Amino acid sequence: MSLINNSIQNAVSLLNQEQIIGIPTETVYGLAGNIYSSKAIRSIFALKQRPFFNPLIVHIKSANDLSEIAREIPEKALILAAVFWPGPLTLVLKKQIAIPDLVTGGKDTVAVRVPNHPVALALLNQLAYPLAAPSANPFGCISPTTAAHVADYFGEVLPMVLNGGACQRGIESTIVGFENGEPVVYRLGSIAVEDIEAIVGPVKMITHDDIAPAAPGMFSKHYAPLTATFLTADVEKKLTTFPDQKIGVLVFQKGIDDPKIVQQEILSSTGNLAEAASQLYAALHRLDKCHLDCIIAERFPDVGLGKTINDRLKRATQK
Ligand code: TXA
Ligand code: MG
Repeated sequence: MSLINNSIQNAVSLLNQEQIIGIPTETVYGLAGNIYSSKAIRSIFALKQRPFFNPLIVHIKSANDLSEIAREIPEKALILAAVFWPGPLTLVLKKQIAIPDLVTGGKDTVAVRVPNHPVALALLNQLAYPLAAPSANPFGCISPTTAAHVADYFGEVLPMVLNGGACQRGIESTIVGFENGEPVVYRLGSIAVEDIEAIVGPVKMITHDDIAPAAPGMFSKHYAPLTATFLTADVEKKLTTFPDQKIGVLVFQKGIDDPKIVQQEILSSTGNLAEAASQLYAALHRLDKCHLDCIIAERFPDVGLGKTINDRLKRATQK
């Protein structure tokens, strides 16, 4: 059987043998293993070259399983889970004692979500345990939104990538924790903050730009292409500062005419932010393969998913 395949049975059997595999979700592909297998969890950290203190997200098949993972769950967490699960919302909650420290980076909280992808749910329904799964990219690289991206990164060492097509959302889940029962956004993601606020009222934002062991939700260097990348409100002006170079351009809606542009990615010609978000990483992957001198990305409108896209583009420009 080839590395990328559709066999849930094969996936189940590898996971039951404490191996790790690539799995699809609606956000990005994950590198998945049994949360109760220290062998599997150690392999995830090793393969990603991820520091052990940066904890993993636990994926469960239904909100009914939440009490197995978390305790003392705030009312607003239950409301958000009822509205957004299955879906790209990760809740950070007090962990049940049984959840291994290896998964949570020794913290007394656990990140958990129900993915909204038919293949991921079919797989979880055949397993006797939840799956820990970080995004299936080496630490600091662009997250994968197709099975082929995962195979490109880890083809030599992974036994299998379960194929679920291109990820519908294309950007990671929004991460929400709680302080005294009130929601706090730790990572911007596929659900706009405005959509969360429409359900539970105003939320605090604590997204971290730097390595901060107390709240490891974000590292600034995440999601970076290998090619030097610039973010600007005015792409045409920025282009004039690079004479005689091979340049890649990433824009929201409207293409730019300039002979220096070797590869141009228009994320949504109709100006739809959800469509743009779903295309972002695939476009960065393509640009990164073009042997460019640099990539110039356009800043997005700072509303809804535009905020999430700007967050990822900002990180893509940091080395
Ligand atoms: O969409 C997603 O969330 C994807 C798919 C595969 O589900 N997964 C994903 O995982 O993005 P990863 O490992 O790339 O990002 C998980 C983030 C990390 O930034 C980690 O620090 C944070 O979740 N996290 C995990 N547990 C946490 C906790 N107890 N407290 C605060 N942050 C936590
Ligand atoms: Mg990640």
